[in-house]
Amino acid sequence: MSVSLKLATSLDGRIATASGESQWITGPASREQVHRLRAAHHAVVIGIETALADDPELTVRLPGYKGRQPARVVLDSRQRLTPGCKLAQTAREVPTFVIATGEADPALVDAGVRVLTVPAISEDRPDLKSVVQALGAEGLINLFVEGGGQVAGSFLRCGLVDALEWFRAPIVLGGEGRPAIGALAVAALAEAPHFRRVEVGQLGDDLWERYARA
Ligand SMILES: NC(=O)c1ccc[n+]([C@@H]2O[C@H](COP(=O)([O-])OP(=O)(O)OC[C@H]3O[C@@H](n4cnc5c(N)ncnc54)[C@H](OP(=O)(O)O)[C@@H]3O)[C@@H](O)[C@H]2O)c1
Repeated sequence: MSVSLKLATSLDGRIATASGESQWITGPASREQVHRLRAAHHAVVIGIETALADDPELTVRLPGYKGRQPARVVLDSRQRLTPGCKLAQTAREVPTFVIATGEADPALVDAGVRVLTVPAISEDRPDLKSVVQALGAEGLINLFVEGGGQVAGSFLRCGLVDALEWFRAPIVLGGEGRPAIGALAVAALAEAPHFRRVEVGQLGDDLWERYARA
């Protein structure tokens, strides 16, 4: 089992403006690399707020790519994902999972979405350790978490992040922009998740930093 967390941010670690605009903070070379990373994982994981804000496809779209598509997974306790969104509309071609805490919504199931019900913890949200186990049971072992900030924070808080793939664009969004990583409840520096940088490169105008859990 492994979890990689992708962050595509401004220099000051923001993933969207206050109004939620985030496409596109990073440049085309970074986005292409993100598609290569998707192809190297079994599943791409996002939170429901990202699904609702961006209506993403989360597929690998690279010139000439004919390989396997990773499954798409939405953390969505209350099943707010709509059957009309791109993920549900393409669920019969690319495996698509909703992780909920209640019984499966028939409208999503009819669209071909697999609803996995897992135990809830605080705020009635799925317990991420159970989520990782449930996905592992489906053969989805290597997960690529693409945000947003709340989901990134939850994975880090649970100590589940093995690697960071951090794409940093040369813009500054300021304090009112949305943070790449939500609340972590870190009381002392020693408690903060620590990483060690394993690689750094340049993609167009962006920096690509890779970190492993220390
Ligand atoms: N720049 C980038 O690369 C990038 C990437 C992704 C997103 N974004 C932007 O980020 C914004 C959305 O981010 P966000 O932080 O507001 O929301 P988010 O992390 O996408 O989704 C959060 C929601 O996921 C659900 N959830 C279920 N289980 C969870 C868990 N264990 N931990 C946390 N959340 C859980 C919760 O809704 P329920 O309680 O209803 O389940 C929660 O409100 C959008 O503007 C999007 O465009 C940018």
